[in-house]
Amino acid sequence: MTYRKKMAAGNWKMNGHWAELSEVSTLLERHPNPACDVLLCPPATLLSRMSDMTVDGAVMTGGQDCHTDENGAHTGDIAASMLADAGADYVILGHSERRADHTEEDDDVRTKAKVALNAGLKVIICCGETLAEREAANTLDIIGGQLAGSIPDNVTGENMVVAYEPVWAIGTGKIPTLDQIGEVHDFIRAQLERRFGEGVGRSTRILYGGSVKAGNATEIFAVSNVDGALVGGASLKAGDFSPIIDALEASK
Ligand code: PGA
Repeated sequence: MTYRKKMAAGNWKMNGHWAELSEVSTLLERHPNPACDVLLCPPATLLSRMSDMTVDGAVMTGGQDCHTDENGAHTGDIAASMLADAGADYVILGHSERRADHTEEDDDVRTKAKVALNAGLKVIICCGETLAEREAANTLDIIGGQLAGSIPDNVTGENMVVAYEPVWAIGTGKIPTLDQIGEVHDFIRAQLERRFGEGVGRSTRILYGGSVKAGNATEIFAVSNVDGALVGGASLKAGDFSPIIDALEASK
């Protein structure tokens, strides 16, 4: 079986000021040598400072988005190379909040991924269905389309992670059944193997995201082809995120 290092990724979204960096200190103290990758994606304003704090530690940092262009006249936007310059290892791309709030399409996500990879970042490509799409039994079609459209050709199991995040499970406290999670993760694995071959397909990590908490992490991490989690709300406090890291380290 191909080895895949598990990953616990936290997405702080538009939350956190300087004071909240104390949570990172606590996390670094609690997990000096984690058995899984631990990643925090703070707002861009904290990225440089958080990266400085974690540079010798066991936590990696990432951005939450980047622009499709490498630089230029785009007031308020952030280039992938700037994230890398601020110390980021990763960037989250195609999160459903970006797709909904900023009308990002698969094409945009793919272009951003190319620019990010060129800048030396690793990418977390997000996909997920809405509740209406699930109820219409369109989940796998939607996920298949998003993967085909959003992932560029030059990815490897090293430079890309896929996150499955049902839109209706994000921030709602609702999660799909474990069978539903397993069905989508198995489908994503099969799609990756078909397009990129077994080497890349089997070594790419697939994270589940959407209302992951300490109380449900262990059962989610036991699901087939779940290689970790992308965590929003429960990543803001070390006291909430730490038990999720523990659960991931304990998972097989
Ligand atoms: P949540 O967010 O854990 O707060 O549901 C997950 C995400 O959007 O990545």
